[in-house]
Amino acid sequence: PLRLDIKRKLTARSDRVKSVDLHPSEPWMLASLYNGSVCVWNHETQVTSRPYVFQHLQYITILTSGIQQCVLHVLHMFEAHSDYIRCIAVHPTQPYILTNDMLIKLWDWEKKWSCSQVFEGHTHYVMQIVINPKDNNQFASASLDRTIKVWQLGSSSPNFTLEGHDKGVNCIDYYSGGDKPYLISGADDRLVKIWDYQNKTCVQTLEGHAQNVSCVNFHPELPIIITGSEDGTVRIWHSSTYRLESTLNYGMERVWCVSGLRGSNNVALGYDEGSIIIKLGREEPAMSMDTSGKIIWAKHSEIQQANLKAMGDAEIKDGERLPLAVKDMGSCEIYPQTIQHNPNGRFVVVCGDGEYIIYTAMALRNKSFGSAQEFVWAHDSSEYAIRESSSVVKIFKNFKEKKYFKPDFGAEGIYGGFLLGVRSVNGLAFYDWDNTELIRRIEIQPKHIFWSDSGELVCIATEESFFILRYLSEKVAASQESNEGITEDGIEDAFEVLGEIQEVVKTGLWVGDCFIYTSSVNRLNYFVGGEIVTIAHLDRTMYLLGYIPKDDRLYLGDKELNIVSYSLLVSVLEYQTAVMRRDFGMADKVLPTIPKEQRTRVAHFLEKQGFKQQALAVSTDPEHRFELALQLGELKIAYQLAVEAESEQKWKQLAELAISKCQFGLAQECLHHAQDYGGLLLLATASGNAAMVAKLAEGAERDGKNNVAFMTYFLQGK
Ligand SMILES: *[C@@H]1O[C@H](CO)[C@@H](O)[C@H](O)[C@H]1NC(C)=O
Ligand SMILES: *[C@@H]1O[C@H](CO)[C@@H](O)[C@H](O)[C@H]1NC(C)=O
Ligand SMILES: *[C@@H]1O[C@H](CO)[C@@H](O)[C@H](O)[C@H]1NC(C)=O
Ligand SMILES: *[C@@H]1O[C@H](CO)[C@@H](O)[C@H](O)[C@H]1NC(C)=O
Ligand SMILES: *[C@@H]1O[C@H](CO)[C@@H](O)[C@H](O)[C@H]1NC(C)=O
Repeated sequence: PLRLDIKRKLTARSDRVKSVDLHPSEPWMLASLYNGSVCVWNHETQVTSRPYVFQHLQYITILTSGIQQCVLHVLHMFEAHSDYIRCIAVHPTQPYILTNDMLIKLWDWEKKWSCSQVFEGHTHYVMQIVINPKDNNQFASASLDRTIKVWQLGSSSPNFTLEGHDKGVNCIDYYSGGDKPYLISGADDRLVKIWDYQNKTCVQTLEGHAQNVSCVNFHPELPIIITGSEDGTVRIWHSSTYRLESTLNYGMERVWCVSGLRGSNNVALGYDEGSIIIKLGREEPAMSMDTSGKIIWAKHSEIQQANLKAMGDAEIKDGERLPLAVKDMGSCEIYPQTIQHNPNGRFVVVCGDGEYIIYTAMALRNKSFGSAQEFVWAHDSSEYAIRESSSVVKIFKNFKEKKYFKPDFGAEGIYGGFLLGVRSVNGLAFYDWDNTELIRRIEIQPKHIFWSDSGELVCIATEESFFILRYLSEKVAASQESNEGITEDGIEDAFEVLGEIQEVVKTGLWVGDCFIYTSSVNRLNYFVGGEIVTIAHLDRTMYLLGYIPKDDRLYLGDKELNIVSYSLLVSVLEYQTAVMRRDFGMADKVLPTIPKEQRTRVAHFLEKQGFKQQALAVSTDPEHRFELALQLGELKIAYQLAVEAESEQKWKQLAELAISKCQFGLAQECLHHAQDYGGLLLLATASGNAAMVAKLAEGAERDGKNNVAFMTYFLQGK
């Protein structure tokens, strides 16, 4: 499926709308109503202009719109036909307009709007005229006489007639893409037909509408056909597979008109009760970045490239759109839904509509192609797998098929990386890329699988949460060697679960042992050693592209193909990775490269991992260090920190610790600093220290602590 994301942008209630059009540069929609009014709507501000009202529908009125206030001026008004005019077509280059009732008339506005030609042939009303976008001398007409006729300017009789509809034809449109000579029509027989106007045959009939089809549109950009009907629905069909992708019903009664615009994803729809603008788009952009910072994406069918390196040393702020120069690389033969670099970045695979094409990443030369439901790269750059159907997976090496394989419980999804993952109703199975031997079956329904570069860690993300697992390759090798610990679900000890986190991962990647991801609530986080660190709160849905260690930055893209970045220090990630691997030699080497302001964050991480001593050494935050010193029983360090902080609270905490360690001298000093007379009294009496009791009595009296003063004098018999 196309996975088109459909959003309603504007709902404008009005009387019956018989025609809609989108302005090519302003955010305006023009709607002409059955009652004779014309309305202009601004779909950004949602403000309407005052409708301009026409009294006589049989007069043609040409309008221009004043740019700022959207004022409509009547340029010329003339009587053209004796019956209702149902359609106007404006020639894209010549000063012509075409109008119709039963006849079609051509008007030349450079010749004072004279009627310079009449086209005769239809035997009933003509409902719509469209000019061929690929040949401006040709136009087609749809008529209630059940036919479509194709005409040449300059010849008053039709070039040919297309017959096939059983009832009146209401609407037609030309396909504007270069590859197919197609026309589409919709009729009162509830059918939509696609015609090849070169060999004059009907190539496809789309069935589904439950009432008269009133409008048809080949979208000028997206690979879709949009049809509207008096059944109140708008249907979206794939323009090459003719599969019905979506049915939209906005409850505005009958649909009368549809209009798309080149270069835009907005589509205007006109109904009995008003008009609607919908925005069609892909949920997830087809884009991919290699490890050097070259990004390839698809803008509709056009492949474009941008290079992070070409930005130079311009200062980059977190979350700001990067000023990238975009280079066109040519168009793709399929409508791309995903683009993926292979691990070494030499190739990219473009997938869409059950097909894939592998291109060289540099020049976009096609290297291999075929049909596939899904395509995944292996960890080894020369290998990949395709899912051919719900039961067959094929593995390729160096573009040659290496293995044809039918997983036991079928294949509903495949996942690339260190092991080949195959999803079925029974869960997930991991296979060895080399011999397709089962490594382990896991009862889980994954959405995404992300392997770390080392192949030691893997994240399995589901609809609700994600799991981090460690892959124990030695145990797998040992089991395979000894043939022990192998069940029908594979090698029991292949994985160790490190944790489950209740967050929904949208996109993710590993840097060392740190798993960086975007979540369903638009947070940019990373997970390391059981801890989640939030890097940023994103203001919209973003997709992770990659991490460039040299830049200390993480790159993300959005649906509109904007690229933004966030700072994330490689030294911090490396340090955390070293700690996770218990490699303190490496950690100590990395530590000096971590800026001072990041040290406390790292120290908190160390503390959570149980390395308090290291945390105390690394932390630069006195509060944190004091806490750690207390936990570690480091009295000297804690004392020093308490002296610096001069905080009563700290002295109290330290006193407690000193007492528990029988350091009564220190405890006494601390209690004095904390002016804790109760504590001092307890200490003095419990230790039977008469001198201390005497000193305390004086101090307490001086400070007006009468209860303690009384008690201490009393104890001394004074
Ligand atoms: C036609 O409909 C529009 C919008 O619903 C309304 O503003 C206008 O007054 C109507 N015009 C006539 C002539 O009824
Ligand atoms: C129809 O148009 C084509 C050119 O598009 C021309 O070659 C052909 O002779 C025309 N046929 C008729 C019947 O006019
Ligand atoms: C006409 O062309 C289409 C391709 O556009 C092809 O599928 C169809 O078979 C052709 N029909 C005839 C009768 O040649
Ligand atoms: C469909 O068109 C026919 C004329 O072909 C018309 O009589 C009928 O009322 C239309 N259907 C609806 C639902 O308006
Ligand atoms: C790939 O290129 C070859 C020749 O360069 C061409 O014949 C083939 O049609 C192309 N295939 C695709 C899917 O682009």
